Amino acid sequence: MVTPSELGLPAVRRATTRDPARPDDARLIDTFGRVATDLRISLTDRCNLRCSYCMPAEGLDWMPRDEQLTDEELLRLIGIAVRDLGIEELRFTGGEPMLRKGLEGLVSASAALEPRPDISLTTNGIGLARRAESLAAAGVNRLNVSMDTLRPERFATITRRDRLSDVLDGLAAARAAGLGPVKINTVLLRGLNDDEACDLLRFAVEGGYELRFIEQMPLDAQHGWERTEMVTAGEILEKLQAEFTLTPDSVARGGAPAERWIVDGGPAAVGVIASVTRPFCGACDRTRLTADGQVRSCLFARTETDLRAMLRGGCSDAEIAGSWRDAMWGKLAGHGIDDPGFLQPDRPMSAIGG
Ligand code: 5AD
Ligand code: SF4
Repeated sequence: MVTPSELGLPAVRRATTRDPARPDDARLIDTFGRVATDLRISLTDRCNLRCSYCMPAEGLDWMPRDEQLTDEELLRLIGIAVRDLGIEELRFTGGEPMLRKGLEGLVSASAALEPRPDISLTTNGIGLARRAESLAAAGVNRLNVSMDTLRPERFATITRRDRLSDVLDGLAAARAAGLGPVKINTVLLRGLNDDEACDLLRFAVEGGYELRFIEQMPLDAQHGWERTEMVTAGEILEKLQAEFTLTPDSVARGGAPAERWIVDGGPAAVGVIASVTRPFCGACDRTRLTADGQVRSCLFARTETDLRAMLRGGCSDAEIAGSWRDAMWGKLAGHGIDDPGFLQPDRPMSAIGG
């Protein structure tokens, strides 16, 4: 008999693997008592920048179009997540999510769901100046924009594209469109931009943006990350404290990755996402979907659950929801980046999403 795998067809996993220990709970719960309410969706693995800590100059072998979920498939999964699995927040990421055709349509269809999810976008800001208004009108509530430097020549070195002014215009347009508080994500790289921590914070405070520094993680396609090269949260805070007074934010952090500090008495705040030196896995409330329809229980997961095969194999919403619950039930306690046996996942950040 010819098996589906011999025909090159994906094996469809039906919801028959349920662990009897998993409670009869509709939500995405795991064995450590965490509940995922925040769904991060990568809309494409493509990008129009080439950040050196993310991908090589020549780019990557992008995902073939037929492997990507169609809008219809994606909206079906989003509907299941919101209606059946208790997802309250959606974040669209990439690669660069604005490269996905029909992004505004996906946003407005998601915004029409009941209960209405909170919708945000993580973007590199290229082309945002033209689209901030339409994204806000479609239902985006908040934006995170990546920007690692305020100096054009450094921007060109880090991203391999001379586009800093596009990002600055995009930030201003997002603020004007009411997509606030607009957050800026910054990765500091030793010897490249690590002398700009204070300049970036001053820029953010004066512009009404919320800056967050992200420790560099081992998720680059080239596998070039080195623990000793990473600029740590401790170093970042030390640099900032030379020019600013930082007091810990009293607002409960919940599942948020960023630890926040109030800057010079407020109202401005700065965040540090210290995934490596101060991991926050214990309070994680995230589940992830890749552009080709794989559920990942963690950025660093080494296994995935193939919902695309279920969609294309004729499974019901209930079966898909069951497999998603199974996937999250198997979520590990943490990523273990600092453990000696840590293995980087096969998928790079650009194909998982931030
Ligand atoms: N480590 C930390 N942050 C990263 N980003 C991309 N790759 C890495 C990495 N290896 C950032 C981007 C973007 C966000 C989604 O994650 O700069 O702001
Ligand atoms: Fe593109 Fe983001 Fe990777 Fe930079 S970090 S190349 S903006 S996906």
